[in-house]
Amino acid sequence: MTSVALLRQITDYANRADPYPLYAELRKTPVVRDEDGPYLVSTYWEIHSLLHDPRVSSDTRNLSPEAARTISQEEDPNLPPPFIKLDPPEHDRLRRLAMRPFGPPHTPRRVYEMRGELGEIVSGLIDGFRDRGQVDLVDDFSYPFPVTVICRLLGIPREDEARFHGWADTIAASIDPAHGTADEREAQLQVFRQARTDLASYLAGLIEDRRRSPRDDMLSAMAAGYGPDGQMSPVEMVSTSILLLIAGHETTVNLITNGMLTLLRNPDVLQRLRDDPDLVVPLVEELLRYEPPVQLLPQKTTLADIDIAGTTIPKGAPLWLVLASGNRDPQRFLDPDRFIPDRPDNQHLGFSSGVHNCFGSPLARLEAQLALTELVRRLDNPRLVEDPPPYRHNAVLRGPQHLGIAFDGLRQ
Ligand code: HEM
Repeated sequence: MTSVALLRQITDYANRADPYPLYAELRKTPVVRDEDGPYLVSTYWEIHSLLHDPRVSSDTRNLSPEAARTISQEEDPNLPPPFIKLDPPEHDRLRRLAMRPFGPPHTPRRVYEMRGELGEIVSGLIDGFRDRGQVDLVDDFSYPFPVTVICRLLGIPREDEARFHGWADTIAASIDPAHGTADEREAQLQVFRQARTDLASYLAGLIEDRRRSPRDDMLSAMAAGYGPDGQMSPVEMVSTSILLLIAGHETTVNLITNGMLTLLRNPDVLQRLRDDPDLVVPLVEELLRYEPPVQLLPQKTTLADIDIAGTTIPKGAPLWLVLASGNRDPQRFLDPDRFIPDRPDNQHLGFSSGVHNCFGSPLARLEAQLALTELVRRLDNPRLVEDPPPYRHNAVLRGPQHLGIAFDGLRQ
C-alpha cells in the first residue's frame, strides 16, 4: 500500500466493519507521513512514547488551519476549551478540579456508590425488551444508558432528563455528520449549535442553583470548589460538564455494543460469562484492546521536532495516533487478533495513556461490566440478526449504528 492510500483507506467507509487488516499494513512502517498531511503512528511502543511526551500537544490551537479543518466538531466560541484540548499546566489545573469531586483520593466513593443506581437503570432498560422477540441494542439500550448515567452523576433533576437526552442526541449526531448535500449539512450544523447553546445556558442556570443550594452531586461539588486550585469559573464548569457528556457518551455506547457483538460472535465466551460473571472484569479490558471505541486520536500536534522510529516528525505536524492498531501490535501482545477474555498483561491503549488518559474510565468500566453481565444473564438464546451490522460513518469513534439481536425470551 502506498502512503497516498493510508488515510483515505482508514476513513473509507468500506473498511469500517473490519479496519484491522489495514492497521496490520500500517504497522509495517511505524511512523509514516500520509500524502494528505498527518503523520500516522501505528505501533504500540511508539504511540505509548508519544502519549507520554510533553512535546506532543492536545491544544487544537497549535494545529495548522488546514489540519484544524479536518476536525469535525467545532468548539463553542462562548466557552473556554474543554481540558481534553488543553496542555499542562492549564489542563492539569482543570482536570484536578474536576477529579476532586469525581474520584480518589478526595471522593473515592462517587463511582462506587452509583453501582446500585446503574444496576436499576440497566434492569429498567432490559425490562423494556419484554414481549419483543427482537431489539436494536443501540437504540433500545446502549444509547440511552450512558446519558442517563451522566445525568445522575452531574445531578440533573429527573424531570429535566428527557430534555437533556434530546440535547445529547443532537450533539452525538453532529459527531457523525450527515453525508448529504451541503445544505443538509449546514442545517444539521445549525441544529447542533442551537442544542449546544441551549444546553450551556441550562447548565449555567443549574450550576448557579447548586451553588446556592448544594446537593450530593458533581455539579454542586464543582460549584462549591475547595482545595489548593481554588475554584472553576462558571464557564469552565459548563465547559467541563459538556466535556463529560460528550466524552462519555458515544464511547460507552460503542463499548457496550461492540461487547455484545463480540460475545455473540464468540458463543463459548458468552457461555463462560454467563457461568462466571466475575469474568466480566478482564473481559471488558480485552474488549477495550480488541475493539476500542476510540480507534485513533487525530487532534494532536508536535511542539518541537521529534525523532522516533527513524523518522523526524517536524514541529507543528498533525499527528494521528492509531490506538486500535497499537492494541493489535504483535510486538506487544501475544496472538493479538484473538479475543482472549482473561488475557494476562493487558495494558491496552483503549483509554489512551499519559496526562490525557481517560478521566471517566472507572465509570465507563462499571457501566460496561454491569450492562454485559445483565444482558447475557437475562436474554434467552440471543442471536445476531445481521453480521456485520451497519456501522456509523465515524472512523474515530467507531461502532455499529444498529445491532439487531433476536432472542427467545427474558429471564428474571
Ligand atoms: C468506553 C468508554 C470510554 C472510552 C473508550 C474513552 C476513551 C478515552 C480516550 C481514548 C481519551 C483520550 C483522549 C485524548 O487524548 O484526546 C479519553 C479522555 C477523556 N475521557 Fe474518556 N472514554 C470513555 C468513557 C468516558 C466517560 C464515561 C467519561 C466521563 C464520565 C469520560 C471522560 C473523559 C474525559 C473528561 C477525557 C479527557 C481527559 C483529559 O484530557 O485529561 N470518558 N477517553
